[in-house]
Amino acid sequence: MYQFDITATDKAALYADLRSALDALTADEADAIANMANAAALLWEYLPDLNWAGFYRMAGGELVLGPFQGKAACIRIPLGKGVCGTAAATRETQLVEDVHAFPGHIACDAASRSELVVPILDGERLIGVLDLDSPVPARFTPDDAAGCEALMELLASRLG
Ligand code: SME
Repeated sequence: MYQFDITATDKAALYADLRSALDALTADEADAIANMANAAALLWEYLPDLNWAGFYRMAGGELVLGPFQGKAACIRIPLGKGVCGTAAATRETQLVEDVHAFPGHIACDAASRSELVVPILDGERLIGVLDLDSPVPARFTPDDAAGCEALMELLASRLG
């Protein structure tokens, strides 16, 4: 059983604690799917106001659904399509305050109002993206983006 000491006094403290927890969860495991699955579970449990948290992996030149928590989702996303495909194509974090204002947003869950997508890079190689969705408009801030980028930098080194 895993138990984490996550204190959400502010976002910096929350993400520092999440990084320690992710480090502990993945340190001794080399299987990428297992580590993505536990990372999705961790973020789902400790980040408030999410309706989806998970991964899309680069496979065969497109994004393919990976481990996640939330409703069943679109399986394949071409590069450049939607928020995830844009993050993958540009290799830049996409912080979307209003998904309805994002051209080409792919609605997997009609409840989603805002979204944060962080590319996962191993050097030059794009491994996939982290996708967080929220039913709350403007749920994500630059602090969430920075926190999740730090988490994905760590996870990238634990994906085999
Ligand atoms: N909204 C995403 C698709 C993935 S789901 O939200 C899980 C997008 O526009 O890429």
